[in-house]
Amino acid sequence: MSSGAESDGSAEEVMTGQAPVIRVLTLFPDMVRAVLATSIPGRAERQGQVRYEVTDIRDFAVDKHRTVDDTAYGGGAGMIMMAPPVVEAVEAVRRREDATVILTTPQGETFSEDLTLELLADLQAKGELILVCGRYKGIDERARELVVTREVSIGDYVLSGGELPALVVVDAIVRRLPGVLHDEDSAANDSFTTDRDGGLDCAWYTKPPEFRGLTVPEVLMSGHHANIEQWRRRQAVERTRQRRPDLAAGRDGKTKLSD
Ligand code: 6GU
Repeated sequence: MSSGAESDGSAEEVMTGQAPVIRVLTLFPDMVRAVLATSIPGRAERQGQVRYEVTDIRDFAVDKHRTVDDTAYGGGAGMIMMAPPVVEAVEAVRRREDATVILTTPQGETFSEDLTLELLADLQAKGELILVCGRYKGIDERARELVVTREVSIGDYVLSGGELPALVVVDAIVRRLPGVLHDEDSAANDSFTTDRDGGLDCAWYTKPPEFRGLTVPEVLMSGHHANIEQWRRRQAVERTRQRRPDLAAGRDGKTKLSD
């Protein structure tokens, strides 16, 4: 928006610019679009900080029945996603040969805040990030070989498909794009951020001051900002130590209870 023309901030206006694109390839495009239009991911697109392109893999089926999966060679229960529709779909939407193509699969590396920041940097550098939503039973190994560059899981449990994991990944990334979060939902002191040495967040309270006999810790009502900050920091460290001793902040002593 260097034209000097008055900006009205409309989606049409800002989206004509350089917003990076996240492309999601799925067998359930309505589900993916609905989530990406909602809450902070939706606002990010309306504000022009990112664009989403959702592609139905079924549109790239090569037969008249639009088949996208079949039984496994060698036998076994469950359907396997066929290589041709997946590979054709990726090649059709991809703008850069070197674009990162993530497959969501329980066999992938476990998603994390560190990986979020890595993928954010990749999106910003290349202007494009592609996610292929796998299905639980799997995807033909040749599709992996031909177009997938990275595999991501969101944890050690089984989901019916890769759509929810892909949406988790997109949400985590876009909330970190500059300008997406406003002060009221700032990421600075979220759980896992560097502000907390990668530890958990403290307890939070809002009105009313008393509810069913439960009150708000007095320090939070005191108006004494230094004391409040100290209380919150100690709470966060103590919670991390109790609940997630595996996280750095509960362990490495960088943030001490005595701070
Ligand atoms: Cl990425 N996919 C599926 N199907 N299940 C999962 C997962 C992914 N991550 C955790 N469970």
